[in-house]
Amino acid sequence: MKSKILFSVLVLPSFVLWLGFSYSLTINHPSGTSDWVVPESAKSVKNPSKATAENIKSGKLLYDKHCKSCHGGGGKGDGTKAKSLTTSCGDFTSKVFSAQTDGAIFYKTREGRTDMPSFKKKIPEVEEVWSMVNYIRTFAPVATKVEEPKPKVVEKKDTTKNEVKKVVVKPVLEKKDSVATAGDSMLTRERSKIEMVLKQYENALNTSDTLAMAGLFTLNGIYIPIQAPTVIGADSIKVSFRKLFKDSKITTKFSIDEIELLGDLAWVRAASKGSHTIFGSTAIIADANRHLIFLKKLKDEWKIYRCMSN
Ligand code: HEC
Repeated sequence: MKSKILFSVLVLPSFVLWLGFSYSLTINHPSGTSDWVVPESAKSVKNPSKATAENIKSGKLLYDKHCKSCHGGGGKGDGTKAKSLTTSCGDFTSKVFSAQTDGAIFYKTREGRTDMPSFKKKIPEVEEVWSMVNYIRTFAPVATKVEEPKPKVVEKKDTTKNEVKKVVVKPVLEKKDSVATAGDSMLTRERSKIEMVLKQYENALNTSDTLAMAGLFTLNGIYIPIQAPTVIGADSIKVSFRKLFKDSKITTKFSIDEIELLGDLAWVRAASKGSHTIFGSTAIIADANRHLIFLKKLKDEWKIYRCMSN
């Protein structure tokens, strides 16, 4: 009798408590990204801090101090404390995680949930939290890892002249950020790709390379040259440059004044300076031109869509 009472007083309630506890553990926190609802207003908050190397460095210092023990040095959720937690810490390198907005990561860091502590009190300065968001972004693998290209000699066959010429193709280096991040590198990457097209345009002019030049345009590209009729379509553009290169030699250098991205379209305002030698004449004409160029992104490659020079 006595033991029955003891059972119902002590063991039963604690069993019920344990049941409720383990229920809440299994139901409420399977994984952070999928079911952690972040209010729309928090998701859309823009990250006010720039992911500069310096900013990311201070984010790393904070991360190492406050987050690494659970989330791990590489953000994979394998910190020393992680094993003793009932909740998975998530994986900062995963695609699902990276698809979140900076605002959502900021919100989760500040609010916390279950085993994930709230950092509102521990890290009250919001700039510091944003710097951690920028640092966390660096865990995601960078989509384009370009190997440093080496200059190479390629043989180009000009079908009309039936001759093969050797051309040294200079590598055009993509600008590398000191620390590549998934967040800020997207725009930087597109911009440097566009800068690269302009560099190739400059190279094609300087090496009188008709084929390289034609390849820079979209099939339905339009070129509006200086004091000459508009040239429509890649084939006509090829013909027009072939004539230009046959009759003259261009030496030029481009500088970019503006680049603006509008989704899969971009426009560039540029200037070029150099000289133009017409074959058969001794005169070397000093050249200074301005260019308005629209580019279109086709299969992840930027091509010249409209180009007007004057
Ligand atoms: C005591 C361990 C612990 C510490 C310390 C910790 N976290 Fe977490 N964190 C977790 C756990 C566990 C989760 C998953 C929570 C859940 O899903 O309920 C999580 C989830 C997150 C998420 C959401 C992950 C996702 O998949 O969307 C972010 C962002 C995050 N933590 C950032 C941080 C930052 C930044 C710090 C340091 C300032 C930090 N955490 C410190 C344990 C920790």
